Amino acid sequence: MVSSSNGSGSVMSFFATAEHEKDRLQYFASPEGRDDLYQYNLKERRTVLEVLEDFPSVQMPFEWLVQLVPPLKPRAFSISSSPLAHPNQVHLTVNLVSWTTPYKRKREGLCSSWLASLSPEQCIYVPAWFQKGSLPSPPSSLPLILVGPGTGCAPFRGFIEERAIQSVTGSTAPVLFFFGCRNEENDFLYRDFWLSHLQNGGVLSEAKGGGFYVAFSRDQPQKVYVQHKMQEYSERVWNLLINGAAVYIAGSSTKMPSDVLSTLEEIVSRESGAPKDSAVRWLRALEKAGKYHVEAWS
Ligand SMILES: Cc1cc2nc3c(=O)[nH]c(=O)nc-3n(C[C@H](O)[C@H](O)[C@H](O)COP(=O)(O)OP(=O)(O)OC[C@H]3O[C@@H](n4cnc5c(N)ncnc54)[C@H](O)[C@@H]3O)c2cc1C
Ligand SMILES: NC(=O)c1ccc[n+]([C@@H]2O[C@H](COP(=O)([O-])OP(=O)(O)OC[C@H]3O[C@@H](n4cnc5c(N)ncnc54)[C@H](OP(=O)(O)O)[C@@H]3O)[C@@H](O)[C@H]2O)c1
Repeated sequence: MVSSSNGSGSVMSFFATAEHEKDRLQYFASPEGRDDLYQYNLKERRTVLEVLEDFPSVQMPFEWLVQLVPPLKPRAFSISSSPLAHPNQVHLTVNLVSWTTPYKRKREGLCSSWLASLSPEQCIYVPAWFQKGSLPSPPSSLPLILVGPGTGCAPFRGFIEERAIQSVTGSTAPVLFFFGCRNEENDFLYRDFWLSHLQNGGVLSEAKGGGFYVAFSRDQPQKVYVQHKMQEYSERVWNLLINGAAVYIAGSSTKMPSDVLSTLEEIVSRESGAPKDSAVRWLRALEKAGKYHVEAWS
């Protein structure tokens, strides 16, 4: 709360009765205290309650407190189910966000930890609404190259469900899916689901021109990412691209989409024998044609 604005620090200092707390809060509210305020609050992600515990002499009237606390931000989640497979349902794939602060305090994301705390038996009202995302639903005739490490696999679970149902009644275009996670043991999300579509002529099977490739980043000393798998299967990537494939990229790492783009530039250049700048232009044209989509968050 102190960090939400220097003004909050001033208001708190007004209500502090202990002199040392008043001084500290006034320092946080001053231009000289800005860096320390950032360290104390933003870097450590202190909650309102923790700040009030650190400054127990602050006896703020409730009406003031309510005005100082910023309203909760809504959180966006990709829809990870197909309406064809689950009419009247919307599935989400949510990872429990957790990290350790510079002062070694364990922190958890507010919304993801709250969702994780709910029990399926509980009947609870969760305010939610729909917003158009940046990954348009692909027609069944469009070949796809999907890149979705971690929770980035969420929208693609829906795509695969949809295509699997469409493939029962008609022909569908091939799909290559590059998935990545930290460890095979702990966070291989929807393992059985992907593997089931990889077998018996499923939509990810080689028989259908598809493929499913996983990069486990922390199962060996050196990092293996989705880009490495794309390099390994670059011929397949290129063949699908020249057959009109669209590229869809989703995930929580802000750096991942640009790394994947650089890898695609290398693949296009190497496989086509064209210089790098032509490959860059080729991929830009793909984007202009509405066949290169990214949804990334951090
Ligand atoms: C278009 C879109 C689609 C999304 N789809 C999904 C999805 O399908 N599944 C999903 O799980 N999430 C998805 N997200 C992310 C989701 O909206 C939330 O941001 C996420 O769940 C974390 O929310 P939270 O309230 O748990 O964490 P918060 O309480 O908001 O905490 C997250 C914040 O904590 C800090 N933080 C987190 N990790 C660290 C770290 N290692 N070091 C320092 N600070 C850190 C950062 O400031 C970060 O912004 C999507 C986001 C967008 C914009
Ligand atoms: N408690 C847990 O076990 C656990 C597990 C997963 C996630 N989480 C939490 O959930 C949040 C979101 O998780 P998530 O599953 O969406 O993502 P994530 O686990 O943070 O990342 C998914 C995969 O992408 C890799 N990656 C990182 N940078 C990349 C890059 N530039 N290019 C390509 N791949 C890259 C990661 O590898 P590296 O991370 O090894 O570099 C990991 O293998 C995380 O930030 C974390 O807080 C917790």
